[in-house]
Amino acid sequence: MIDYEVDGDGIAVITWNMAKKPMNVLNEESIGAFFAAVEKAVADDAVKGVVVASAKKDFVAGADLDSIFAVTDPAALFPRHMEMQNRFRGIEKAGKPFVAAINGTALGGGLEIALACHHRIAADNPKAQIGLPEVTLGLLPGAGGTQRLPRMIGVQAALPLLLEGKRLSPKEAHGFGIVEKLVAPGDLLAEAKAWLKQAKPDDAVKPWDRKGFKIPGGKPTEGRNRDAFTAGNAMLRARTYGNYPAAVNIMSCVYEGCTIDIDGGLRVESRYFINCLQTAEAHNMVRFFHSMTKAKNLAARPKAVDPSTYTRVGILGAGMMGAGIAYATAMSGIEVVLLDTDQAHAEKGKAYSAGLLDKRVGRGKMSAAERDAVLDRITATTSYDALAGCEMVIEAVFEDRKIKADVTAKAEAVIGTAAIFASNTSTLPITGLAEASKRPESFIGLHFFSPVDKMPLVEIIMGKATSQTALARAMDYVKAIRKTPIVVNDSRGFYTSRVFGTYVNEGLALLAEGVAPALIENAGRMAGMPVGPLAVADEVSLELVSKIRKQTRADLGDAYRGHPGDAVVDRMVDELQRLGKKAGKGFYDYPEGDRKRLWPDLAQHFPPAATQPDVEEVKKRLMFVQSVETARCMEEEVVTDPRHADVGAVFGWGFSPSRGGTISQIQSVGLPAFVSECDRLAQAYGPRFTPPKLLRDMASSGESFYAA
Ligand code: NAI
Repeated sequence: MIDYEVDGDGIAVITWNMAKKPMNVLNEESIGAFFAAVEKAVADDAVKGVVVASAKKDFVAGADLDSIFAVTDPAALFPRHMEMQNRFRGIEKAGKPFVAAINGTALGGGLEIALACHHRIAADNPKAQIGLPEVTLGLLPGAGGTQRLPRMIGVQAALPLLLEGKRLSPKEAHGFGIVEKLVAPGDLLAEAKAWLKQAKPDDAVKPWDRKGFKIPGGKPTEGRNRDAFTAGNAMLRARTYGNYPAAVNIMSCVYEGCTIDIDGGLRVESRYFINCLQTAEAHNMVRFFHSMTKAKNLAARPKAVDPSTYTRVGILGAGMMGAGIAYATAMSGIEVVLLDTDQAHAEKGKAYSAGLLDKRVGRGKMSAAERDAVLDRITATTSYDALAGCEMVIEAVFEDRKIKADVTAKAEAVIGTAAIFASNTSTLPITGLAEASKRPESFIGLHFFSPVDKMPLVEIIMGKATSQTALARAMDYVKAIRKTPIVVNDSRGFYTSRVFGTYVNEGLALLAEGVAPALIENAGRMAGMPVGPLAVADEVSLELVSKIRKQTRADLGDAYRGHPGDAVVDRMVDELQRLGKKAGKGFYDYPEGDRKRLWPDLAQHFPPAATQPDVEEVKKRLMFVQSVETARCMEEEVVTDPRHADVGAVFGWGFSPSRGGTISQIQSVGLPAFVSECDRLAQAYGPRFTPPKLLRDMASSGESFYAA
């Protein structure tokens, strides 16, 4: 996995080449082999300098995440970690120059190897990513990244990169001074060797090992840096409500570590790294990362169906959703037929893509010629004949059964028998809509989220008759347009809307009980949700919520269980005429050109009780109610894969990534503890918290959703 070669000029080339893995990654074995090669080169007097290179497409893509949590004995963590720090430090102190020849992606530990070298040359490969994304996994760069990066490029430049986990192109990394030279990919090795040949003894000494070294821009405690830390710390705490300890740990780590010498700094980093490793957040985020990767790579795709590709897709309805789906599809190189009832509507839908593309051109992300090519792929039309040759048709017309049935029949008359027909309905059961189809086995739900260009998730809904072939082909399409699919079975509200609805409902129930609106909203955000439940209700539109409820009540009749929040919605809509954000007034006021604020009269209509609950209790209600409903979805087999439940939660409605998703939250609390806490909540607030049998059984038999 690590090749070693010394050329006639005494240059050792250590090449990462993990043949059995898709990418080079740091794990116990590869680290061992790499440093064995490093030590060999250092010990060999004939070796004058060393190139660290890669034989694969990437340089080194990061650490194998499972190996990170492998050491569980707390007493062993610090010494083990310092051992690794010392090995990286060994490169710096080798007494001969090391150069990293970065041919492709260098992330996390991969970049940290490069940072430990004395010089970095990167191939100008725009697809490569360079960065330290550990924070996005609840971790921090623990192989010197938090210490070497600020010492190279200054504290102020390094902090945002560390705190956001930004991935840079080689060109951007060069701009930051993270790589010293950018070369054509074919010249990389020769350039690396050329640098070694001209290197002076001083080039094999790191700047921070030289006398009188000063961090560019000063220490964290000096001048403007100190102010930046104070302001940054306050902002971070205010924005994340303590949900992201990794970011806080990174701040502290840079602050403390960069005030002292590098060896002390690396010890500080190890300490904070271990802090991160022991947080629930890191476990949740890494678990989520695995779930997301599996979903993205279509682990749930029926294996027996041959892979399919797409060249032409029809989209019916060029409104907000249809236009967004057209953009995502055309961006992926697929021809789009965008159909609406009149040409002006169809053209307007196409113009939406033009707007987004112009922005990309403006930001330098795309050339004008590329923009034109994408736009040329979209045909705006009113003619069903244009759908001929489409491998898939997606309808996004008005949410009306009759209209949907009509467009289904018209499209099916034109498209081939092998084509898939998908509905982007947000509420109508797929099995019912499929009744309008002559081939219900090829009829499927593809539920996109708004705005389509930004939202990564597509919820695939299986109707009763939907075939495995249709599922596999729908998944292939979702992957082709670079979105992440989850697969669910037909149910009222499917999975995402059904569970997300419980968050909003709980907010309404709290208001009905006399909990102060500000407390409800803050508790939601403090628990890591992007917006409070009342603000969500406004966004969705209270009028629509009320309409759906009345419809559900009518549909279910006596079976409708009712909800404590129902009366709140009815009152807001029917009595107070507060219809939601679109109408400019709901739980919030929306003054033009200003930020929304809670409606001051809300307290008059829903008076807060004399004693208010503890914020932790409110947070728990808002978050646990979503997990209980998810467990019900699993019991009813609306969702069958816990990973899909988690990916749907985080990508679909912004459930706090630090909790890893709705099922991950149960796992994190522990099944028995979660069940008993829900029993208490059910006793206090109602049966919506009653844990389903599935959870009780799993808790009593010691089962869990995930292995760890
Ligand atoms: P929209 O009102 O913006 O667009 C609907 C478009 O369909 C309009 O351009 C209309 O002219 C066209 N249309 C109506 N009847 C037609 C027909 N017979 N043939 C061809 N075109 C026709 O609605 P929006 O928001 O784009 O929603 C479309 C569908 O997507 C609905 O089923 C909705 O429930 C669903 N959806 C909406 C989401 C949202 O956030 N707005 C999210 C997910 C799904």
